Amino acid sequence: MKNQTALITGASSGIGRALAFEFASHGWNLVLVARRGALLDQLATDLRAIHKVEVSTIAFDLTASNAARALHDEISSRNLSIDCLVNNAGRGHFGEFIEQSWQTDEETIHLNISVLTSLCHVFAPDMVKRRNGFILNIASIAGFVPGPKLAVYHASKAYVLSLSQALHAELSPYKVSVTASCPGPTESEFFEKAGTQKLKALSYLKLMPAETVAHQAYQAMMHRRPIVVHGLMNRLMAESPRLMPKSWVAPLLKTFMK
Ligand SMILES: NC(=O)c1ccc[n+]([C@@H]2O[C@H](COP(=O)([O-])OP(=O)(O)OC[C@H]3O[C@@H](n4cnc5c(N)ncnc54)[C@H](OP(=O)(O)O)[C@@H]3O)[C@@H](O)[C@H]2O)c1
Repeated sequence: MKNQTALITGASSGIGRALAFEFASHGWNLVLVARRGALLDQLATDLRAIHKVEVSTIAFDLTASNAARALHDEISSRNLSIDCLVNNAGRGHFGEFIEQSWQTDEETIHLNISVLTSLCHVFAPDMVKRRNGFILNIASIAGFVPGPKLAVYHASKAYVLSLSQALHAELSPYKVSVTASCPGPTESEFFEKAGTQKLKALSYLKLMPAETVAHQAYQAMMHRRPIVVHGLMNRLMAESPRLMPKSWVAPLLKTFMK
């Protein structure tokens, strides 16, 4: 994808970092965004050396007010335009709902929902004007089921799944596709930051390498598929709730979240 530029949020670690390598390996130029600028700069140096692509970094807190517009303006001031928006930055917090502070939940809702939506708002119109573009939203298999002890996180990913599919239907006629990537448990900093160290179920799960998720997400996006669930086990986990009464799903999940 020579002369095409992808903006990847949350590129300093985990799936976002792996996506940066995946995109660069296909010749995309990159704009990388996260708060830890030193990690982004090191990543950019590595990508330029290995894949000979152009990489810009923007050390930026996406939860700052009017972040999407400010990011769009910063990118325009660098004479760059975005052909692909990858909404990857996200967070979750493990624990009983009533024990979480509202501030923690509000930050999750803001980053996972508001920031992702506002980035679609500011970058999609340029893609529609050019009659070409890709949006890749990193959702989760969490979006298919309610998740006791990760309630706000699961709900936020259900939003991402729903929004992505609706936008795909709206924007496809303009040759702009929206792909929702749904990883299951994946190697990254996510679980440590989410405070899931106490979650016993995690020790039974095999984590998927972030590189595998990135590769499959990229392929699905390039085929303009609206949704991809990564791996057979994750597809089973995503589909199995349909086979049981809705009222069983959350109580069943609760038994695993210990
Ligand atoms: N790991 C899993 O099992 C899993 C499964 C399904 C879906 N996902 C989703 O995958 C996405 C990536 O997560 P990950 O697993 O790769 O976790 P991660 O390693 O913690 O990566 C999260 C990324 O988001 C960035 N970020 C967080 N808050 C930010 C902010 N306010 N402003 C800018 N950047 C911010 C972080 O960078 P800085 O800290 O440098 O800002 C980091 O680069 C998330 O949307 C997550 O929900 C993960």
